[in-house]
Amino acid sequence: MSLDLDKRQRAMLREMGVRLWQPPPVAASPDAPFAMNSVAVSPRLPGAEARFDAERQRPPTAPAPALRPPPTAPAPAPRAPAAPVSGLKPRPAGIELMAWPALQAAVAGCRACALCSSRKSTVFGVGPAASDKAPSVDWLIVGEAPGEMEDIAGEPFVGQAGKLLDNMLLAMRLQRGNDDAARPGIAKNIFITNVLKCRPPANRNPDPAEVAQCAPYLKRQVELLQPKIILALGKFAAQSLLQDSLPEVQKIPLGKLRGQVHSYLGVPVVVSYHPAYLLRSLGDKAKAWDDLCLAQAQLAG
Ligand code: URA
Repeated sequence: MSLDLDKRQRAMLREMGVRLWQPPPVAASPDAPFAMNSVAVSPRLPGAEARFDAERQRPPTAPAPALRPPPTAPAPAPRAPAAPVSGLKPRPAGIELMAWPALQAAVAGCRACALCSSRKSTVFGVGPAASDKAPSVDWLIVGEAPGEMEDIAGEPFVGQAGKLLDNMLLAMRLQRGNDDAARPGIAKNIFITNVLKCRPPANRNPDPAEVAQCAPYLKRQVELLQPKIILALGKFAAQSLLQDSLPEVQKIPLGKLRGQVHSYLGVPVVVSYHPAYLLRSLGDKAKAWDDLCLAQAQLAG
């Protein structure tokens, strides 16, 4: 079916939240560089392979439905407000001096907040194999908190948002450290973790008390990893990393934290959108790509 709509009708549908599908542009553009199942690379990354998602590979002459559902993921159920956190207990002593294996063990056994009673696993993070020392990485990616899938797997970003993150990373010629797929020219010098190491139940936001209890783990991870760049994904990561250097960071919208290089423990920090948000707001993918390019440029010095 094809709808021949005039400008006014289109504006009306837009008002109603109905999005009209437009044929994709023939030429490659960095507007939507990350697809769920494929990768596109901005021309700003020299030498990077350009790949495009299925939508972009559609021949321009192919008949296209005039109206089709937006290619966005279904909006998640509204998050329950964070319940007041009770049952805080002391963290393991001496986190600030721990070596990597001790830090891993401390997180695995942590009972410093009530999340320990509902979690299936702790999620320390993932990177290249390491034994007694932290893995050597250039990149540290910090997300918010494990979700349901991560809680089961014990690994960050393994759900839909994680697939998008993996594609974003591939576009940067990076892949998670424990990914065995051989991809020539793709580096694994990246560690991925979250502000919270345990899943908040019912998909609720992290509570400030939980963030505070978990913060020393992230701090020690940064001290031991010594990454060259940190990418903070979403407001909880940004706020948690920047609260000491940016007064009232909680009041600053995420969009205003983007586009500049901040600092955490002397490590440059670039703020970007959370991949789960990007799944619902495809229009902001191009901005996320700009953020990755900024981080890449910072890394390249
Ligand atoms: N969202 C996050 O912020 N972290 C995860 O590990 C998964 C989803």
